[in-house]
Amino acid sequence: MKMLHFAVLFALLFSSSSHAADFCVAKLKGAGTPAGYACRMPSNVTVDDFVFTGLGVAGNTTNIISAAVTPAFVQQFPGVNGLGLSIARLDLAPAGVIPMHTHPGASEILFVVQGKITAGFISSSANTVYVKTLKKGDVMVFPRGLLHFQINAAGINSIAVVSFSDPDPGLQITDFAFFANDLSSELLEKSTFLDDAQVKKLKKVLGGTG
Ligand SMILES: *[C@@H]1O[C@H](CO)[C@@H](O)[C@H](O)[C@H]1NC(C)=O
Ligand SMILES: *[C@@H]1O[C@H](CO)[C@@H](O)[C@H](O)[C@H]1NC(C)=O
Repeated sequence: MKMLHFAVLFALLFSSSSHAADFCVAKLKGAGTPAGYACRMPSNVTVDDFVFTGLGVAGNTTNIISAAVTPAFVQQFPGVNGLGLSIARLDLAPAGVIPMHTHPGASEILFVVQGKITAGFISSSANTVYVKTLKKGDVMVFPRGLLHFQINAAGINSIAVVSFSDPDPGLQITDFAFFANDLSSELLEKSTFLDDAQVKKLKKVLGGTG
């Protein structure tokens, strides 16, 4: 009987030691892939790989959108590699806006820490708009891949913490995708139905050519 207990205990120990590793702190020197980065040797991992200290500091909002995103994604915070999540700080000056954008691979959840933020997203199935002005303490979730935006609604600096369902959520800002590259005005106008004056104006502001 005793021998059997030992055998069971041994089997349990053996099976737990053959589980996948507890974590995979990113070895950022290699190339990132959609599946993440390669893992560092556990012997080369310290508690500091699981701690990010940058979100206590306001981002610099002196820019064209009067807003800043301070990311703690896998590139800044290698401990989140492979864990399916990441976090960032959002600072919005009074005129601040995070323009219409998507994170192709990640849902986002936003928690307002200070001020007020008008936020919304657009469904892909029926182009339904879901928009709300959030106050301090409110949380809103933005489903994966959908177009969404955030605009300061407070008249003072607003701050939010945003978390993503991916260590590397990706970002595509619609206006930059349209107007900050060399897609010709002719094709852009044909493919968006926007008029020439609007296209030329936004290309100039955002540095696009063609
Ligand atoms: C150990 O960690 C450092 C970063 O902290 C990294 O540059 C180095 O490549 C790692 N070495 C191994 C063997 O994983
Ligand atoms: C914020 O960014 C602006 C524009 O790049 C720059 O001129 C300014 O020095 C920055 N402020 C701080 C405190 O870094």
